[in-house]
Amino acid sequence: MIQFFNVGKRYPGGQHALRELSFEIPRGQFVFLTGPSGAGKTTLLKLIFREEVPSEGQIVVNGRNVSSVPPGKIPFLRRTIGVVFQNFRLIPRKTVFENVSFLPRILGADTATQKRLAHEALDRVGLGHRLGAFPLELSGGEQQRVAIARALINEPEILIADEPTGNLDPELSKEILRIFEEIHHRGTTLLIATHDRETIQRIGGRVLTLEAGTLSGDQLLPSPRDLRSEADTDLITSTESDLATEGEPL
Ligand SMILES: Nc1ncnc2c1ncn2[C@@H]1O[C@H](COP(=O)(O)OP(=O)(O)OP(=O)(O)O)[C@@H](O)[C@H]1O
Ligand SMILES: [Mg+2]
Repeated sequence: MIQFFNVGKRYPGGQHALRELSFEIPRGQFVFLTGPSGAGKTTLLKLIFREEVPSEGQIVVNGRNVSSVPPGKIPFLRRTIGVVFQNFRLIPRKTVFENVSFLPRILGADTATQKRLAHEALDRVGLGHRLGAFPLELSGGEQQRVAIARALINEPEILIADEPTGNLDPELSKEILRIFEEIHHRGTTLLIATHDRETIQRIGGRVLTLEAGTLSGDQLLPSPRDLRSEADTDLITSTESDLATEGEPL
């Protein structure tokens, strides 16, 4: 689903933000990406949806080498990848509907389809009644949920979120994570960058840790649900042994 082969990224005039990164995220996995400020988390996410291109190595997403996608085809790549940005990136002068339906609109969907899709996506985050509101009329948590609805509108196979709970109080953070878990249960692959160790411990799953641009950890934490039954524990063990082989050269 997402494969990195010896990926490096150097910004113009800068040091390497990422170096020699190799890992693989299989379909349907729930992955946290953590590490100190400046470790390269945002850069790694941007490489996946082609906001940045790698300086070295290859990135394959859904079997497609993302660096070789021509610029005109990038909206099609993004059709399969939903992105929730840390600062929401909602357009203030556009309504919730216009913000959420941006991707289907540029992909050529008619207005009725855009409305239906926007409604469905907003319903999933509990905001189906706010189509006509402007972003600044919403609370921070509501804006974050609109950003999630926009990322979900095309039923992406992969959902990427950069510090999605960074500016939210603990109750809203839990609500956002509950939405992510629900999305995951529908089969979506999730990659969430966060500093929040408490959230990671509570939700569990796979945790990739970046330090100074390199991968310093790849752990599988049990989730509270997994601990409930032996069958689930077996599942964790087999996934762990699968992961153990993932660092092998391909
Ligand atoms: N557009 C850019 N131009 C030059 N250098 C950049 C750019 N974006 C990031 N960097 C540098 O790349 C490194 C990694 O930055 P990145 O934003 O990926 O870190 P991060 O782990 O997301 O940090 P944070 O937790 O603070 O968001 C940093 O040293 C940063 O200064
Ligand atoms: Mg960042």
